Amino acid sequence: MIEFCNVSKVYKKEFTAVKDINLKIQDGEFLFIVGKSGAGKSTLIKLLLREINPSDGVITYSGQNITKIKKRNVAKYRRKMGFVFQDYRLLPKLTVYENVAFAMEMICCDSKTIRREVPLVLSMVGLSDKAKYYPDELSGGEQQRVAIARAVINKPEAIIADEPTGNLDAETSKEIIKILTEINKRGTTVIMATHDMNIVNSCQKRIVELKRGVIIRDIKTRGCIDESKEN
Ligand SMILES: Nc1ncnc2c1ncn2[C@@H]1O[C@H](COP(=O)(O)OP(=O)(O)O)[C@@H](O)[C@H]1O
Ligand SMILES: [Mg+2]
Repeated sequence: MIEFCNVSKVYKKEFTAVKDINLKIQDGEFLFIVGKSGAGKSTLIKLLLREINPSDGVITYSGQNITKIKKRNVAKYRRKMGFVFQDYRLLPKLTVYENVAFAMEMICCDSKTIRREVPLVLSMVGLSDKAKYYPDELSGGEQQRVAIARAVINKPEAIIADEPTGNLDAETSKEIIKILTEINKRGTTVIMATHDMNIVNSCQKRIVELKRGVIIRDIKTRGCIDESKEN
């Protein structure tokens, strides 16, 4: 379980980006963090990834207070999670296969395991036929699918995605959500930040909505946020 307890983040000693956040995320949940640009979604994600520390409050991951993790242990902590970002962040000089294999090499997997696992994951994201392609030979949706393959290859407990569909059209975004849903069904926690209410409303998932750094809604079962009622 991931738990935020009274978490606030103040930037430059004056701007409160997220305020008094209390949030529990159970293992195996699929959670959307929504809100307009500037609402504090990425700040919450950065706090969870331990890229930044809160100004106040405590964040625990499986009972461990992550704000107290020493710098030299941060990489080990992050290995529990797979990350997906809006801009894909693939290595341009490596093929699709090599991009995914590289993530396994980073944790010293043996080559036999790599040769076995990479094709399985590429098949899961529907890219078996693009294994030898380079990132600049792929569409945005395909690049994001490679990024997802790379994020799941080491079997993380959770996938953390910050605006993974931010550069994609509606149809391609749906495919990405479908893949994330599939990963979630296999038991992986998925936490996805997005400003796109169309995506969120098309899924029956938990929605935590931020507004100016404060949680204004936490819809646990079925959510359809009607933007026309927003002020
Ligand atoms: N490093 C930073 N220094 C100062 N202000 C920041 C920093 N990062 C984010 N902010 C501010 O915090 C607010 C929330 O940002 P962010 O978490 O990126 O929102 P979102 O991801 O919802 O668009 C914004 O007003 C942004 O300008
Ligand atoms: Mg953001």
